[in-house]
Amino acid sequence: MISKKMADALNLQMNREFFNARLYLSMAAFFEALNMPGAAKWMEAQADEETGHAMRLYNHLRDRGARILLGGLEPPPMQWDSPLAAFEAAYEHECEVSRQFDEHLTFAQAEKDHATAVFLQWFINEQVEEEATVGGIVHRIKLIGDHKGGLFMLDRMLGERKAD
Ligand code: FEO
Repeated sequence: MISKKMADALNLQMNREFFNARLYLSMAAFFEALNMPGAAKWMEAQADEETGHAMRLYNHLRDRGARILLGGLEPPPMQWDSPLAAFEAAYEHECEVSRQFDEHLTFAQAEKDHATAVFLQWFINEQVEEEATVGGIVHRIKLIGDHKGGLFMLDRMLGERKAD
């Protein structure tokens, strides 16, 4: 049985992950408006991944006999100054999500909730990948600068992302 405090933390994180899905879908819509279909597709795939993260938490709460509580969601931001600004915001956001999971794991360990600690390890690994991937895209956009052809090529490359 999971403690009430641990269940509250995981419910909070589940709702955050549902917000993350909407954040990335909002970024997808932003890239559609910029006529960058590749980046939009990349963001859509990211949004799907975030829903998957939320459902992992949902399933863990269910399997541990906790009450699952879906809360209201804040509207996500809708506008960024540039493609670079949107990906920089995504990178900063992923760093914040990493900190959130670090906190949850520290709490699970303090509670000696080994099942939750093992469960959270997947997210710790996933966040390393998320930060590296988005950070890599930020780096590429910075290298491209104002070169329109470079941005076009990057958009094509981003559009090759497969759904996980
Ligand atoms: Fe589920 Fe990208 O944090």
